[in-house]
Amino acid sequence: MKENKKAHWEKVYKTQSAQQVSWTQPIPQTSLDFIHAFNLPKNAKIIDIGGGDSKLVDYLLQEGFTNITVLDISAAALIKAKKRLGKKSKAVNWIISDIIDFQPEDHYDLWHDRATFHFLTQEKQIDQYLAIAHGAINNYMIISTFSENGPEKCSGLPVKQYSEMQLKNQLNKHFEKIRCINEDHLTPFHTTQSFLFCSFKKQQADS
Ligand SMILES: C[S@@+](CC[C@H](N)C(=O)[O-])C[C@H]1O[C@@H](n2cnc3c(N)ncnc32)[C@H](O)[C@@H]1O
Repeated sequence: MKENKKAHWEKVYKTQSAQQVSWTQPIPQTSLDFIHAFNLPKNAKIIDIGGGDSKLVDYLLQEGFTNITVLDISAAALIKAKKRLGKKSKAVNWIISDIIDFQPEDHYDLWHDRATFHFLTQEKQIDQYLAIAHGAINNYMIISTFSENGPEKCSGLPVKQYSEMQLKNQLNKHFEKIRCINEDHLTPFHTTQSFLFCSFKKQQADS
């Protein structure tokens, strides 16, 4: 099952262009808006979970962020992103891993995940993800999933849709909600997908 998951994503990135997959954004504006709201220093440690070949890393580099990590299960996705960035890719830390197997060696000021968490459909996987995130995050988390009005599948795989309340309840053991919005994402094929974007702050041990 695990190998199937990786094989699925390797195939997607080897056979489909950015214009052929639904999640592509020319500018990841909502993610950037949420990130700007934190007013992070340029040396803040930022990780993009399931970053794929998203351009978020390009924009963060352009803004002067110096400590960016992109993690993805697909090596092919990261090769695409590195190719696009050319020499600038050397300034980024690239990690090929299933998020469930990730053993962070660092702590991150910001954990960003657009459309990866929602592929975890079993309670055990969700708990594993949140335990890893909780251990690795210093401050903030941004999670974006399909909303309760979003599609039931993404890239042909089943996803878990979330309302604001459901996501808040899923995370409330360790994270406090800051803000949520719904966004209609316009796909490269001119259809829309309803996303939920939420930011959270990690609760400190004594709070
Ligand atoms: C729908 S795409 C979103 C890509 C990117 N975040 C964006 O917004 O453009 C989902 C991404 O998550 C990655 N992915 C899926 N399951 C994963 C897992 N268990 N661990 C790490 N990455 C995963 C896929 O390879 C893919 O790049």
